[in-house]
Amino acid sequence: MVFQDLPDFIRTLERKKLLQRIDVEVNPNLEITEITDRIVKQGGPALYFSQVKDSPYPVLINTFGSEERMSLALGVKKLSDLGNNIKKELNLFLGNFPGSWVEKLKLLTKAAEAAKYNPVLIKAAPCQEKVDLEPDLKSLPILQCWPQDGGKFITLPLVFTKDLHTGQRNCGMYRLQVYDGKTTGMHWHCHKDGSRHYEKCQRKGTKMEVAVALGGDPATIYAATAPLPPFLDEMFFAGFLRKEPVKMVKCRTVDLEVPAYSEFVLEGFIDPNERRREGPFGDHTGYYSLADDYPVFHLTCLTSKNKPVYPTTVVGRPPMEDCFLGKATERLFLPLLQLILPELVDMNLPLEGVFHNCVIVSIDKSYPGQARKVMHAIWGLGQMMYTKLVIVVDGKVNVQDLSEVMWRVFNNIDARRDLVIVDGPLDVLDHASPFPCYGAKLGIDATKKWPGEGLQREWPEELEMLPQIKNLVTKRWRDYGFS
Ligand SMILES: Cc1cc2nc3c(=O)[nH]c(=O)nc-3n(C[C@H](O)[C@H](O)[C@H](O)COP(=O)(O)O)c2cc1C
Repeated sequence: MVFQDLPDFIRTLERKKLLQRIDVEVNPNLEITEITDRIVKQGGPALYFSQVKDSPYPVLINTFGSEERMSLALGVKKLSDLGNNIKKELNLFLGNFPGSWVEKLKLLTKAAEAAKYNPVLIKAAPCQEKVDLEPDLKSLPILQCWPQDGGKFITLPLVFTKDLHTGQRNCGMYRLQVYDGKTTGMHWHCHKDGSRHYEKCQRKGTKMEVAVALGGDPATIYAATAPLPPFLDEMFFAGFLRKEPVKMVKCRTVDLEVPAYSEFVLEGFIDPNERRREGPFGDHTGYYSLADDYPVFHLTCLTSKNKPVYPTTVVGRPPMEDCFLGKATERLFLPLLQLILPELVDMNLPLEGVFHNCVIVSIDKSYPGQARKVMHAIWGLGQMMYTKLVIVVDGKVNVQDLSEVMWRVFNNIDARRDLVIVDGPLDVLDHASPFPCYGAKLGIDATKKWPGEGLQREWPEELEMLPQIKNLVTKRWRDYGFS
């Protein structure tokens, strides 16, 4: 199912009873957070607040906050289908390469087909039904999420920038702290692609144009969070996910394009010499991330639909809505990781690890030291470099079952032999490391140990009942008086 925009998705959620409308007035300062936090933690629906204090616009929140809604947003029945779809596409591209002429022809056809996911530019766009050249953010129902937040934050923005030299587009989700009606912070972390674009402008002393879209279809919103390599356009990726190109429109006052079906678009610029204190902010980790200096976004034009909905999210102690965006990433990127690490069987980014703090992987081990090789590969792969804890188990272990993983870890490791500690880059949000963005990471090799790995003794067999006894007991279960 392809959604044109957020209202289209809202209608589907309502039809499926996955969204609740709340018509009493609510306060965007803290009250919406408390309601949403309780609802997410109960596994509850998306929330549509029609009456928000001091704003004419309704608020949509917890849109992606369950596996069912996340799957629906990306057009699949369950998140595991995402990986299978990617695998099919990859097999078509890579499985046939190099091959017969027929196979090469198939590959070319497939490449031409992929071009159909490229975004298309349209002239008249719903997101420009209203154009305000004297904009004021005060009319938007922007949340203050947590009591000690530095202010109000736009939390679900799609930030569009362009590489100064190549013109390559980037779209990333980076929060914006509202300073006043016309200025916000721009919280792209130093490792992110938006920050790379900014550094180039800084080096040249050039003013940087930025557009921030709020809304769009759900796959496009997800794409802004996906850890794609810089050369891959998030809007192409969104087109691939929704199996239909994203419609884009040229901004009114900056040389950038944004999704035509966004609810709001903030156009403006960043002065490369200006920075301002940003934060603190109640973050994904469940702690306040510390205040720091970040670039400042100046709003010059605000465009919107005639009747826009303001999409937002609250992050905090997991599980929160962002966890499900993370789970989609886990499923989508597993087949891609398997291209580089063919021994990888499965991967789990537990919700408590908030995307980057913990990765559990199972591997088909076939040589000594392979678990260590996998750890180092993970620490060298894009945004996986932040992983503070990598746990490696054997291929037969179900990494989605945390109890099984812990059982293997607690019992299979020798502390001196099986723990690997390395230093390297960490996520900006990490508050435990001695330095910002740099510190130690731990790898735990909980695979069965081989003599080639220094094991001087026999590795014991696991307990397992004989199949004939299992069958006998199953057959006689009721005879024992159990139901
Ligand atoms: C709700 C939400 C808020 C986020 N806020 C930020 C943020 O403020 N700064 C940041 O650098 N990354 C943030 N992220 C993570 C980035 O969106 C993610 O790393 C993305 O891949 C960055 O895009 P890029 O690779 O094009 O830089 C957020 C993710 C989510 C789901």
